[in-house]
Amino acid sequence: SSSEDEGEEYLFKIVIVGDSAVGKSNLLSRYARNEFNMHSKATIGVEFQTQSLEFDGKEVKAQIWDTAGQERFRAVTSAYYRGAFGALVVYDISRRSTFDSIPRWLDELKTHSDTTVARMLVGNKCDLESIRDVSVDEGKSLAESEGLFFMETSALDSTNVKKAFEIVIREIY
Ligand code: GTP
Ligand code: MG
Repeated sequence: SSSEDEGEEYLFKIVIVGDSAVGKSNLLSRYARNEFNMHSKATIGVEFQTQSLEFDGKEVKAQIWDTAGQERFRAVTSAYYRGAFGALVVYDISRRSTFDSIPRWLDELKTHSDTTVARMLVGNKCDLESIRDVSVDEGKSLAESEGLFFMETSALDSTNVKKAFEIVIREIY
């Protein structure tokens, strides 16, 4: 009586995008393994994790993809986005340049995705309040104008990490 016999009813692909060093890989490791790495290396290529959740008594699996923010380390763009039903579009609240890049990430997502994608704008590193460079209101209003969910997170202290992923997963499901 394995779940294989019953078939995987729900398997959703979610992608994480955003500039290098905004914390994409740490958001994923915090969510999937409750791990944080203060000295993580830039991602090269693509990594993914599958996370199982239960909604309304049904098993839902999210396959969460993480790629490099740095152009030279990125995977083939179209393959990365193919089949994605959800996206976390991430900036670093302590680095404005990463917020200024968000429209470009949204354009890329739109260009390469083949269905409607549930999108969450994520202002990560909200533990760095003392060196904040992007206000909560700026994040909120960008999200509102683009029709995205919005959340500030910290992969370091875990604030809202689970919530951010699960709002997207729930929206898809
Ligand atoms: P690329 O793989 O190059 O695209 O970068 P990335 O977006 O995956 O960033 P990564 O997760 O590797 O994190 C970059 C740096 O930011 C690391 O030193 C992390 O420890 C740090 N970092 C990540 N999330 C947080 C956070 O929420 N708060 C703080 N203070 N630091 C964080
Ligand atoms: Mg990374």
